[in-house]
Amino acid sequence: MSPDELRSRLEFYRDLGIKEIYRRQQPVAPMPEIELPSLIPAGDTLDVICSDIGDCTRCRLHKGRNKIVFGVGNPEAKLVFVGEGPGADEDAQGIPFVGRAGQLLTQMIENTSAKEGIPLKRADVYICNVVKCRPPENRTPEPDEMEICGQFLFRQLSAIKPKAICALGSTAAKALLGGKDGVTRLRGKWHKWRDIPLMVTYHPSYLLRPYNQNAKREAWEDLKMVLHFVYD
Ligand code: URA
Ligand code: SF4
Repeated sequence: MSPDELRSRLEFYRDLGIKEIYRRQQPVAPMPEIELPSLIPAGDTLDVICSDIGDCTRCRLHKGRNKIVFGVGNPEAKLVFVGEGPGADEDAQGIPFVGRAGQLLTQMIENTSAKEGIPLKRADVYICNVVKCRPPENRTPEPDEMEICGQFLFRQLSAIKPKAICALGSTAAKALLGGKDGVTRLRGKWHKWRDIPLMVTYHPSYLLRPYNQNAKREAWEDLKMVLHFVYD
């Protein structure tokens, strides 16, 4: 294993929340190889990830939830949208982006692609969130909640292997890119999650506020860039 491969393996395990990796004792080997257990089942699938989540109580957000909101859409989607966490409607139905913000997201996907001559429906993409349970009063997820639940998001993205990811808002951007920059700094250009091109744009909830006309236009531009990159 090359140093680069080793580093990316180790980062992968760290992202999964595995803090310690032990080296096997090899008394006579002059160049000890680090043995890494295969902790992600080869052929991890959305079904396996969903059943691993089970009736999850790994973080405090489980206390206030009605339904776990795993994700929806095409498991072989070329494009994945990542939001922050379920709101009241999503928590009631168990499906992401079905409330007001969700209706706007659906329109953004379907109207922008129609206008650009790309035949694309909401059901063709995959949609999920950083945390799978609704935070109380719709507060922003805490860093520890994002880290604990983030392992499932990372596994979803690794299983789907989309051609691009669109992070909606700064919580999703933070979860996928790290760092402290907000949407205004990150949006409109390409970043990467692992090897996958990632675009950051405004969260649809933000666009619903009446004074954000400029942001709306910018979100449309971001989305056009993503759609042409993925589907042209
Ligand atoms: N906002 C989000 O971030 N995700 C949803 O699923 C709904 C609203
Ligand atoms: Fe589990 Fe994620 Fe829900 Fe926390 S938010 S309880 S980690 S599914």
